[in-house]
Amino acid sequence: MDAKIVLLPGDGIGPEIVGQAQRVLDGVAQKFGHSFVFESCPIGGNAIDDFGDPLPEQTLSACRDADAILLGAVGGPKWDDPTAKTRPEVGLLKIRKELGLFANLRPINIHPKLSDASPLKQHIVDGVDILFVRELTGGIYFGESGRRTVDGVEFAFNEMTYSKPEVERVVRIAAEAAKTRGGKVTSVDKANVLEVSRLWRKVAADLMASEYSDLEYEVVLVDAMAMHLISRPADFDVVVTGNMFGDILTDAASMLPGSLGLLPSASMGESGPGLFEPIHGSAPDIAGKGIANPLATILASAMMLRHSLGLHDEAAEIEAVVSKVLDDGHRTADIAAGAPSIGTEEMGSLVLNSLMA
Ligand code: NAD
Ligand code: IPM
Ligand code: MN
Repeated sequence: MDAKIVLLPGDGIGPEIVGQAQRVLDGVAQKFGHSFVFESCPIGGNAIDDFGDPLPEQTLSACRDADAILLGAVGGPKWDDPTAKTRPEVGLLKIRKELGLFANLRPINIHPKLSDASPLKQHIVDGVDILFVRELTGGIYFGESGRRTVDGVEFAFNEMTYSKPEVERVVRIAAEAAKTRGGKVTSVDKANVLEVSRLWRKVAADLMASEYSDLEYEVVLVDAMAMHLISRPADFDVVVTGNMFGDILTDAASMLPGSLGLLPSASMGESGPGLFEPIHGSAPDIAGKGIANPLATILASAMMLRHSLGLHDEAAEIEAVVSKVLDDGHRTADIAAGAPSIGTEEMGSLVLNSLMA
């Protein structure tokens, strides 16, 4: 296969972790006889510095022409001034919206040998295998927003909206995924308070009843879900929710395996290239130290092979190799639980060497 892959390393640890994923993808190409052409483009804070725009036009057009996109992370203290004209995160939100990437798949499972990396007790995290389906191009992230001063008092607002088709399409992705997994969908909302959640709940229930009555279906309020994720995470299979609830719940869920540095994601639309990225951010606290865990990004590249390039065996091979490296006891600092650890590049080399062995 010939594939054009756009790399968006971004800021902070982004370039460090994308560099390791690229090495692994080069290894896959060599081993399986594919040709991957990489084009690296600016996004985020570095793009603001160089082009005055967190998503320069040439980056967006390269992404549109790509077969798939692999992103590191954007953002950092340098660009955090609340009065700045634009922000790194604007670039990420814009690329998701422009490419119509409405479904963000965030799988959470526990490597058997890693249960000591989780702050939770082993019997709670044993057997966890959740697929979060986070709506990614709607909700409060994309509603009307602004600031006003009324009677000398300053205020700001962000509007949260969902339309029936927006809910239907993302719930359908969740239900289709559940068919191939544990057969259960949990929809998370705040219907006891929010009108937009009451529409979400009705649309989701109608769709599940009319098209997926063979699947188990439940609804859970988001505040309760935050608790259930910590008390009984193994009870969930596919969890579908809106943009902001999904953002927050998946960072919380990263403590089930024990680190954000382990969790990949895939952002998919109806058609066109998918965008693959770790769920974590640019980790400014460890950027440039060579200690970031590259496994989330390496696993995101496996999702890319599976979901955008249809290379299922190759994706499974990367996942198996990552699993083996963890089985063999290799740990970056975030999952070492205080024991001796290895750096970003060494972890990349171990994955690559094991792949090529
Ligand atoms: P973060 O996810 O960057 O970091 C949270 C904590 O997790 C930090 O202690 C960090 O060191 C650790 N961590 C994250 N990834 C790691 C890895 N691969 N290996 C080891 N440890 C890792 O969240 P934050 O600090 O709240 O945000 C920093 C910046 O990142 C902000 O500007 C934020 O907007 C941005 N951000 C970007 C994305 C994205 O690009 N998709 C996602 C989340 C946050
Ligand atoms: C994520 C991040 C982004 C989000 C930010 C950086 C815009 O937190 O991908 O989870 O909130 O979607
Ligand atoms: Mn997030």
